[in-house]
Amino acid sequence: MSSRPVALVTGASAGIGRELAKVLAREGHDLVLVARRQAELDALAAELKQQYGADSRVVPADLAEPSAASQVFEALGPESVVDVLVNNAGFGGHGAFASRDRDADMRMVAVNVVALTDLTKLVLPGMVARGRGRVLNVASTAAFQPGPFMAVYYATKAYVLSLSEALAEEVSGTGVTVTCLCPGVTDTEFHAVAGTDAQPLTQGPLSMSAAAVAESAYKAMMRGKRLVIPGLHNKFGAASIRLAPRGAVLKIVRRLHPSSD
Ligand SMILES: NC(=O)c1ccc[n+]([C@@H]2O[C@H](COP(=O)([O-])OP(=O)(O)OC[C@H]3O[C@@H](n4cnc5c(N)ncnc54)[C@H](OP(=O)(O)O)[C@@H]3O)[C@@H](O)[C@H]2O)c1
Repeated sequence: MSSRPVALVTGASAGIGRELAKVLAREGHDLVLVARRQAELDALAAELKQQYGADSRVVPADLAEPSAASQVFEALGPESVVDVLVNNAGFGGHGAFASRDRDADMRMVAVNVVALTDLTKLVLPGMVARGRGRVLNVASTAAFQPGPFMAVYYATKAYVLSLSEALAEEVSGTGVTVTCLCPGVTDTEFHAVAGTDAQPLTQGPLSMSAAAVAESAYKAMMRGKRLVIPGLHNKFGAASIRLAPRGAVLKIVRRLHPSSD
């Protein structure tokens, strides 16, 4: 690693995480790239070196494993400093809670909630001690309401939003900032993984590119904003949901995720 600031990005092998890694490299960071697919991470590391002169450390890890966050942190070595932590890895799943695979849902909680929390617990104390650092946690517009037929996914994202806003307040004045990114529908592998790729919302014109989401997230994080919702339509949607009656919102979200169960 050079003397450039270091950004650790989870879920850097695809989608929003991959684009965030590119923006961070372009803006002068070296990278720690984390995900399961090593070949994709190696290819990205080579691209970041060639295009931006950024050094990368590739740390393949399955963040659903209970010790994954500590293994990632240990892989950095005792002298390593993380200047920017991007907790982006995550996935969703569609279907009725009662019939969805138990293991798949527990892995979702492990990646979206447990690994994000654990990695933040490992990295944040060093940031606070140094009096500088940025954390970007990726939630979703799903964080703003419950999600029938994607119940666990929506609940994990509500947790990420709640945790991030609380931590942002806790660290205010320390030189460290915590930003929560709440993207709406974004054109990535997410929908194929979640089984939502055929749903109207996913296919529609309101879907944003991962690159646009990453640019918006980076700007907000560097300004130390607590919350960023990329896209005017997503900002408007999130604001209206806060005002609408909860029962009506549940019916609308249920219609967005029609169940085949
Ligand atoms: N796309 C959307 O519409 C949307 C909207 C709102 C929020 N989000 C959130 O944005 C974040 C990024 O998703 P994306 O849209 O970019 O989806 P994506 O293209 O499917 O990328 C997901 C990333 O997470 C990694 N990941 C998944 N499971 C993992 C595991 N067990 N261990 C380590 N890494 C794992 C994947 O890497 P490997 O497969 O190589 O492990 C991949 O790099 C997620 O938190 C998602 O919930 C997405």
